[in-house]
Amino acid sequence: MSENEKFYITTPLYYPSGKAHLGHSYCTVAADVMARYKRAQGYDVKFLTGVDEHGLKIETNALKENKTPKEYLDPIVESFKKLWSILEITNDKFIRTTDEYHVKSVQKIFKILYDKGEIYKGKYKGWYCTPCEAFFTDLQLKDGKCPDCGRKVNWAEEEAYFFKLSKYGEKLIDYYDKHPSFVQPESRRNEMIQFIENGLEDLCVSRTGFKWGIPVDFDENHVVYVWMDALTNYITALGYGSSNESDFKKYWPADVQFAGKEIVRFHVVIWPAILMALGLPLPKRVFGHGWILFGDGTKMSKSKGNVVNPEILCSRYGVDAIRYYLMREIPFGCDGLFTNESLIKRINFDLANDLGNLLSRTVAMIDKYFKGVLPKDHRPGSIDNELITCAMNLKKDYESKINNFKFSNALSSVWCLISKCNKYIDETMPWQLGKDESQHKRLASVLYNICESLRIISILISPVMPKTSREIQHQIGADESLCTWSMASQWGMLPETLKIKKGKALFPRIDVEKEIQELEKLIGQKDESRKVEETNTVKFVDIEDFAKIKLVAAEIKSCEPIKKSKKLLKLTVNDGKGERIVVSGISPYYKPDELVGKTVILVSNLKPAKLCGTESQGMILAASCSENDVKVIFLDGVKPGSEIR
Ligand code: MSP
Repeated sequence: MSENEKFYITTPLYYPSGKAHLGHSYCTVAADVMARYKRAQGYDVKFLTGVDEHGLKIETNALKENKTPKEYLDPIVESFKKLWSILEITNDKFIRTTDEYHVKSVQKIFKILYDKGEIYKGKYKGWYCTPCEAFFTDLQLKDGKCPDCGRKVNWAEEEAYFFKLSKYGEKLIDYYDKHPSFVQPESRRNEMIQFIENGLEDLCVSRTGFKWGIPVDFDENHVVYVWMDALTNYITALGYGSSNESDFKKYWPADVQFAGKEIVRFHVVIWPAILMALGLPLPKRVFGHGWILFGDGTKMSKSKGNVVNPEILCSRYGVDAIRYYLMREIPFGCDGLFTNESLIKRINFDLANDLGNLLSRTVAMIDKYFKGVLPKDHRPGSIDNELITCAMNLKKDYESKINNFKFSNALSSVWCLISKCNKYIDETMPWQLGKDESQHKRLASVLYNICESLRIISILISPVMPKTSREIQHQIGADESLCTWSMASQWGMLPETLKIKKGKALFPRIDVEKEIQELEKLIGQKDESRKVEETNTVKFVDIEDFAKIKLVAAEIKSCEPIKKSKKLLKLTVNDGKGERIVVSGISPYYKPDELVGKTVILVSNLKPAKLCGTESQGMILAASCSENDVKVIFLDGVKPGSEIR
């Protein structure tokens, strides 16, 4: 890497329609970890986050409270900033879409696109979901409701400006083909290809139904529709469209943009199309992360749920514990359940027992046997080699994982070294060596090796747990200059006459029973943030709901590719009563010949839908084995028409 290589990373802009919550913190912490990691490696990092303030929902919320939108927004936006400061987020910039420079640049972008013929005036008819600020077609609705949030939608018709999204389908697919790592993880890429191949419609980019938005300056009845306003922040924050575009020239295109799974579509279809229309380069990668789900039914809080307010969690357990938990518990591309119980377990096992104990017992032994200063003479042993090799290789392994946003795996590699250190202590038995004066050189060597491992550990955890990292370095007496990123793969950096400084326990063990009681009390009180987060609660379905889905065995009679599509196959299946056509996105995984004659599971009462011009009358079931591996579920010896329950 050349010394000043840049790294630009963004989070989505959060809607400040309620206080910042743990779900928002998830992506922001991940982006912060990435930013700290890259800075530690010497990159010139730009880390952007902010809030998305316009739209009908904010206007309505403000009105309900008898406030102007700005009066309503300001304290909420402050609460976001306050939470980021508590969580030690090191963003370089915080953008508000109400910022004057953003407003001006968006107006400019809108005009450029209009002048280029990329935006035109038309009439919008469709189903509008107010909370999601999105229009949907009949086909996109799920049971007549919003496909994203499941809420009621209203029919709306209005004069509007449209962005010519429909013309970008092929260009986008071509871009995906040429840049295989643009959309990550791979599973989201496949979903998006399918979405594009189903056909893109022009996008409504202005509204007349409300006022709280950026005015279209050449047509004052219109305000810019929120996604056009929000997405362009990633370049307006760098000065695009202003008199000073130096940051834009330096940092764009973004190296990675994080977005929750439900808004990946906006980031990898609409956003790149807008950039293409502007003639600008596309972000290098967009990573669609999963959701933290907040469910009931855990041991800790059977009746009432969990305490999820991030400020409360940070004040009870410490910021680093929360950052660690968020990055360790849930693989970044997947959904995962938050529970207080799993949090406390992580703190007790990983942080207090594994890491905390390792540090405290090492420091205590150096204090006890050597009055806090290791003697110069050491005696290495052959058993040391495995530990040293593991420690020296850790950085490379960690980097390969974190470079691919596998935060949880990267941390688990660090914890392998921590376990190795604890095992090394058990095997070398320093307490025995301490009893025998003639073994003191060996004892010094053992304790030195653990301190060196701790130094390496402290460097590698620093992006996730900055405070803990500093505290470890302080206690083992490791000068900052010995803890630069590159020194995480070098052994023997600490002076042989190492001087430790005893300190407090990194993570005191939590008394689970007592903590449960305390948390129950807290839940009994009002935990404001639950209101926001309950929208993401895991939804169980009743058996009656499941029974609504009719699954039958069906035999594939014939199969052919759909010409316009790279993914879709057209299958003719016999469901026991007759033949029907089913379109399935399995062409990358199967040749038509491999399927004919096979019996599969058919969702027989799925609402018919047109895919690439062919009506699909059902769906066949397949397993996503890995990101690149989809296997149709074949039935053996089952008669077509047999009901599957
Ligand atoms: N304002 C739009 C984004 C515009 S980006 C130019 C928006 N805002 S949001 O506040 O609804 O969501 C912002 C991000 O927070 C999304 O990526 C969403 O996935 C994330 N999260 C909100 N709740 C979440 C969880 N419970 N878990 C993880 N992330 C979730 O969409």
